[in-house]
Amino acid sequence: MSENDEYISYLLSYIGETGNRVAFSKEETQAKIRLVNEMKKLGLDVYTDEAGNIYGLLYANNEKNDSDSMDVIGIGSHIDSVPGGGNFDGLVGILSGLAAIKTVKKEEIKENIAIIAFECEESSVFGKSCLGSKFISKQISIEKLRAITIVSSDFDDGFGLTYGEKLDECNKYLQLPLLNKIINFKTFYEPHIEQGPMLVDSNKKIGVISSIAAPIRVKFTLTGKGGHDGTVPMTSRRDALVGFNELYNIYRGLRHRMDINDRLRTNIGVVDIENASINRIPGKLSTTVSARGLDENLMNKFMEELISRVEVQLPDLNIEVHTERLEQGKPLNLNPKLVDKIRKNAEKYPTLEMWSGAGHDTVYMNKICKEGAAVFFIPNTGISHENSEYAKTEDITLACHILENLIKSE
Ligand code: GLV
Ligand code: MN
Ligand code: MN
Repeated sequence: MSENDEYISYLLSYIGETGNRVAFSKEETQAKIRLVNEMKKLGLDVYTDEAGNIYGLLYANNEKNDSDSMDVIGIGSHIDSVPGGGNFDGLVGILSGLAAIKTVKKEEIKENIAIIAFECEESSVFGKSCLGSKFISKQISIEKLRAITIVSSDFDDGFGLTYGEKLDECNKYLQLPLLNKIINFKTFYEPHIEQGPMLVDSNKKIGVISSIAAPIRVKFTLTGKGGHDGTVPMTSRRDALVGFNELYNIYRGLRHRMDINDRLRTNIGVVDIENASINRIPGKLSTTVSARGLDENLMNKFMEELISRVEVQLPDLNIEVHTERLEQGKPLNLNPKLVDKIRKNAEKYPTLEMWSGAGHDTVYMNKICKEGAAVFFIPNTGISHENSEYAKTEDITLACHILENLIKSE
């Protein structure tokens, strides 16, 4: 095992030991505390911002920057994970950044570096993704961000129901100073596990990413009437689950009729029956439908059609529908010059040209980086957003080598 491999394994087990890092959970907060310890051990100046993102700053030529703004190269990814998720999605991008700056000699660092751990990239808790990077890139105001509410009662853990309440609770444990300067990003690099099978199946080591798909996400709340499951005759029920069944048939029918196949990746991720009980008629439920891909027109057409049919057909079954649009993403083509830079730095490894079906903080960082932002992939065993997610340490080390070269070439 190389020194780099050992450091990566140590970080993965130390930070990963806290367990599944659902945004603002006890486990995520503990992982953030551990990450901050490690950043400080590397001599980074550590801050948080109003959205709960963490920044570890390394100053070029070892000169602390006391001015109220600084130019940086950003490196990182998200610290949170989906419920039941693994240890690698997100964390790999942060840890490989730490390992890279540990290895590069200080005199070779000509630009300030910010290692960033984004908060709430996953849409699990709030139904919207990349909230930390949306805040950094000014796509959402602090007032709107703090007011966002949890998408499902599963995330009511007593830490509050809004982003702001949950963040304040977690910050009591984290105790970090607020970032007190403006950060101007020159570029941002996000190493990430592939989360799918293509690198492993093709025996390649680095995925060079040219575009990132975007999601549309919609939440439907279906309201019927709850009641005793033994006393209310079947003929007079308004079962919200019957409404869901209709919604599901509409969803399946549309996929078939529009001949969507793999052109859009759609998902019904949440079916949340309020006060579910074995002996209660489901009176109210919420469900989420997402669609993602590179074809924005197709995405919009599918979702418009779905919403309009659901809103017409469910009331016919005496089920009320409330529709909330949670997210309206736009697919992104990355700056070809930056993609080429990644390609050149990765050329000694077998590479695969690909696009990303998953969303990434890179999409939002790209909006504010002078020279753009880029994500690149290392292999994992093909499964992600699952506990069995796994990437080899030696493959994470490849991401570190690429970062080291990128840092030295700035
Ligand atoms: C991020 O994990 C996503 O859902 O794309
Ligand atoms: Mn993810
Ligand atoms: Mn991710």
